[in-house]
Amino acid sequence: MGNKHLLIVSHSQSGSTSLMADAVVRGAANEDVDGVDVRHRSALDATSEDLLWCDAFILGTPENFGYMSGAMKHFLDRVFYECEGKMDGRAFALFVRAGNDGSGAISSMRRILKGLAVKEVQDPVLIAGKFDAARLGECEALGLTLAAGLEAGIF
Ligand SMILES: Cc1cc2nc3c(=O)[nH]c(=O)nc-3n(C[C@H](O)[C@H](O)[C@H](O)COP(=O)(O)O)c2cc1C
Repeated sequence: MGNKHLLIVSHSQSGSTSLMADAVVRGAANEDVDGVDVRHRSALDATSEDLLWCDAFILGTPENFGYMSGAMKHFLDRVFYECEGKMDGRAFALFVRAGNDGSGAISSMRRILKGLAVKEVQDPVLIAGKFDAARLGECEALGLTLAAGLEAGIF
């Protein structure tokens, strides 16, 4: 059987969501996980081919104006119709960086992803307020959980 595929799509303007994304990728690429290929794309570059390639995906964005970032919205706008009806309940998870809230970024992504009929398999990692690098371990765990779940055939 071929390798499973895990896609991570993220956007960051001032860098803190990038730190979270790097930790998610680190966890996903954990050397104890076999048979899972990990692809990390910027939300500005990711395509419907990336989303259709994956067996599970993780999206990461800052919250801007009570919503996901414009770049993440642009990604979902570009891929939605090409992927609609083709995602077969694939697993996903979210991570969000916010100045003080984050709930709008999470709910806006969930609302669009509902239309793709995909399945959220982990609670989002939300780092709000002062950036706490100690919480990057949760991002690493998120990446590892999705990758290990694919390896185990759970997702
Ligand atoms: C234009 C703009 C709008 C923002 N709106 C929100 C917001 O609605 N809620 C919030 O909690 N933080 C808000 N923030 C704060 C960002 O979420 C925060 O600065 C975050 O760290 C940015 O992530 P980044 O470093 O990956 O770019 C906003 C920041 C910018 C630049």
